Amino acid sequence: MARIDVGSDHAAVALRRAVVAHLVARGRTVREVGPAVGERVDYPDQAADVARAVATGDASLGVMICGTGIGVSIAANKVPGVRAALVHDVTTARFAAQHNDANVLCLGGRLLAEPLALECIDAWLDTAFEGRHQHRLDKITALENDG
Ligand code: RB5
Repeated sequence: MARIDVGSDHAAVALRRAVVAHLVARGRTVREVGPAVGERVDYPDQAADVARAVATGDASLGVMICGTGIGVSIAANKVPGVRAALVHDVTTARFAAQHNDANVLCLGGRLLAEPLALECIDAWLDTAFEGRHQHRLDKITALENDG
């Protein structure tokens, strides 16, 4: 099965590790990106690493976590081909797959308890994209070219 890259900054090391363990337990191949405990980093670097891997196809999906999820979602969405969705609950996680075909899921490590974060990931992975929204995604892709 295709690889999922999981990255974080220093604000979410514990949650990143929990997400990696959860995905491995689900049988997924995972690449982990981010600092060790006590090391401070700048989240655009980890977001770019994961987003570029998704955009090139080295990874099929990415999960990015910072304190709020806001910074990593802004950064990841700068990479053409990436649709990064910041989600806060199972409902937004499900819609991120169903309506937006999000290929990077962003979470706030300081906002979500671990069980809810893992539920969000499961909802996103287990929900299929509804193809009737494809023309809207095509318009988003066009923005990458035309501004
Ligand atoms: C880092 O302190 C914090 O700014 C970052 O984790 C994130 O919340 C940014 O959006």
